[in-house]
Amino acid sequence: MSLPLLLKTYQARVEKTLAHWLPDSTINPARLHEAMRYASLDGGKRVRPALVYLTGQAVGVTPAALDGPACALELVHVYSLIHDDLPAMDDDALRRGKATCHIQFDEATAILAGDAMQALAFYILAHDPSMVENPRLRLQMVETLAQASGSRGMAGGQAIDLAAVGKEVNLAELENMHIHKTGALIRASVKLAALSSPDIQPDTLEKLDHYAKCIGLAFQIRDDILDVEGDTETLGKTQGADIALNKPTYPALLGMDEAKQRARDLHQEAVSCLANLGEKAEPLREIAGYIISRQN
Ligand code: IPE
Ligand code: IPE
Ligand code: MG
Ligand code: MG
Ligand code: MG
Repeated sequence: MSLPLLLKTYQARVEKTLAHWLPDSTINPARLHEAMRYASLDGGKRVRPALVYLTGQAVGVTPAALDGPACALELVHVYSLIHDDLPAMDDDALRRGKATCHIQFDEATAILAGDAMQALAFYILAHDPSMVENPRLRLQMVETLAQASGSRGMAGGQAIDLAAVGKEVNLAELENMHIHKTGALIRASVKLAALSSPDIQPDTLEKLDHYAKCIGLAFQIRDDILDVEGDTETLGKTQGADIALNKPTYPALLGMDEAKQRARDLHQEAVSCLANLGEKAEPLREIAGYIISRQN
């Protein structure tokens, strides 16, 4: 199956799983549940779930065992987007082609929707009967997602991002910020899938982790590039938001050509990590290319 077709298949799959786990919007507190469903369903590229499924494919895990991790990753990601868009952070009104959660509902509801989605992600990892049974691996998954989401992962990266506004940052600081705010969840996507394979070899785990670290950073570099070169309609979020907020970004620091070159270098490095995984890792190679060339 070609990558676009695989992405479509897995998008449909995660949509179904999200719809299953998110409480119905008729259940009390109805407005909170409505906001959670509004922000999560019917939108987004679903790159993190795709990485879960494609990594699983590369190491021989069935999709059914990966629905839980894929859904958990997307929930934490959407929670991070809801909070990222709040007035206290990036103050954005458009997300995935529609009004941001706090505009559609209100700020308090958006904050709570994010909180509840993070909790739901961990509930799924603890509870889902279709996931790998081995309790040690399940705990390792919880630990991995907790680390990736918290102050030493995504939330920490967001704190660095906010503290850096209007300041001079050097390349090492910018890279550190990107690795945390965006790279951490992408890295966790690959790791949770790998941990779903009970006999995964430490060497394979390490190679996949390095692959994920490279594409995670490349993903945010491309996001920075698209903020300059994209258009609001295609992006589904406001183009030029970084420039307006004076955010430190790769194109701002290195210039556009060097930012693109850095993304290409990271793509090469990522692909080189998959050398021993053969044909079944081909979609992982392809999605690395997609990440640095995507238009939204
Ligand atoms: C946007 O993530 C925020 C970043 C971490 C760069 P995505 O580009 O994956 O957004 P969706 O999920 O497709 O909306
Ligand atoms: C967002 O980075 C990273 C997280 C949400 C954790 P950005 O602020 O660049 O994401 P967009 O551009 O608003 O999607
Ligand atoms: Mg931000
Ligand atoms: Mg933002
Ligand atoms: Mg951005």
